Amino acid sequence: MSDTIKLIYNGEEHEFPVVTGSQNEKGIDIKKLRGTTGLVTLDPGFKNTGSTTSGITFLNGEQGVLRYRGYPIEQLAENASFTEVSYLLLYGELPNKEQLADFDRDLTMHTLVHEDIRNFFLAYPSKSHPMGQLLSIVSSLSTFYPESLDPNRSNEARQLTMIRLLSKFPTIVSWIHKKSVGHPIVYPKNNLDYVSNFLNMTFGQVTDDAEVDPVIASAINKLLILHGDHEQNCSTSTVKIVGSSHANLYASVSAGIAALWGPLHGGANQAVLEMLENIKNDGGNVDKWLDKAKDKNDPFRLMGFGHRVYKNFDPRATIIKKSADEVLEKLGVNDPVLEIAKKLEMAALNDDYFKSRKLFPNVDFYSGIIYRAIGFPVEMFTVLFALGRLPGWIAQWKEMRDLKTPIGRPRQIYTGETERQFVPLAQRK
Ligand code: ACO
Repeated sequence: MSDTIKLIYNGEEHEFPVVTGSQNEKGIDIKKLRGTTGLVTLDPGFKNTGSTTSGITFLNGEQGVLRYRGYPIEQLAENASFTEVSYLLLYGELPNKEQLADFDRDLTMHTLVHEDIRNFFLAYPSKSHPMGQLLSIVSSLSTFYPESLDPNRSNEARQLTMIRLLSKFPTIVSWIHKKSVGHPIVYPKNNLDYVSNFLNMTFGQVTDDAEVDPVIASAINKLLILHGDHEQNCSTSTVKIVGSSHANLYASVSAGIAALWGPLHGGANQAVLEMLENIKNDGGNVDKWLDKAKDKNDPFRLMGFGHRVYKNFDPRATIIKKSADEVLEKLGVNDPVLEIAKKLEMAALNDDYFKSRKLFPNVDFYSGIIYRAIGFPVEMFTVLFALGRLPGWIAQWKEMRDLKTPIGRPRQIYTGETERQFVPLAQRK
């Protein structure tokens, strides 16, 4: 088979190489397109555009396959710890015992957050959204670690920034939660693992000894792994485009948090729960809400449904749905919205509108039900997504810098006015 593609334009023939990935994915390398033809490509939303080669995450949307560094998501979610998966995403291999112990120790040593950051909470309005707080605090870390602003610092120094961010993130998230409920913050404890420490800081009290329910720890561990990375999605691409200007890691990740916040991306987990609550309070008539979602004059969309790349099923949603049943049963929680979610899913999967457009439940459809059963307020759901996605953002940022990727700067096709002459104000109609 040919490994080049021919383009005939204005009677001239141009040849471009076809790049083949390790899973036989193919793309046209158009680096020389503009130079040789004067043309650019036009692809709003980047539906057909590969922005990079990457060795981190493979997904096949038609077959519902997701692998981190070659390992199937199902195996990782079932068997690994979140820090093991973070190591895998960052460094390319599963750690051996010693490497994992070193990595966990490094993460434990940097969990404290500068005390001055507590003052931020005096300024935020009491009902401000946790994502707004998270993105500003993460970006502010750059002011506490000004050395991170140097894009040419040593690998060791860059590594320290990555560890700091991974370590402090759960502490920051727990502070945001504590402040929202008016409780004193709980400091990290070095004898707890990453997930248990996070849960103790979030739900523990300064008055009590640390005690973490293993059912909850295991559920959160799994959810964080499932969110760990998802190749060049909206927030990851944002992290990378910001980082491509050699902005520091804290600023880059903060931009990714902003992108994740939108209801079409990570913000969907909050939107799903709110939608299910609305359906419940409206009498539980799922057909009525399906009709709304299908009505092109109604802005309502079925939240937690559809995906840019998954066109058969989202393997993460399959795992989370099973996990939601298990976790609710183990915790003895009976949440009526789980029943509504299942009814809605069944009705949508049998509906021609959703079938013909290949719209299936995505990762956000069932995750909120687990978060709620554990005790997280709905506004915290997207923050939990960010906590899980953090190692992926960092790994992709690191890979981009290692590949010496040029600054991200798309072209456009200009459709505005052509040149015209300035008219003084007094003469304008
Ligand atoms: N409800 C109703 N109709 C939908 C939905 C939905 N959830 N999703 C897509 N459609 C329809 C669109 O209206 C469009 O119909 P048309 O062909 O008649 O115009 C068709 O399906 C294709 O949809 P697009 O919006 O073009 O698909 P795109 O790939 O751009 O968007 C997205 C994907 C943003 C995820 C979309 O499916 C959506 O808005 N879903 C709801 C929000 C959501 O759950 N987001 C989380 C995604 S997972 C994640 O980011 C972690």
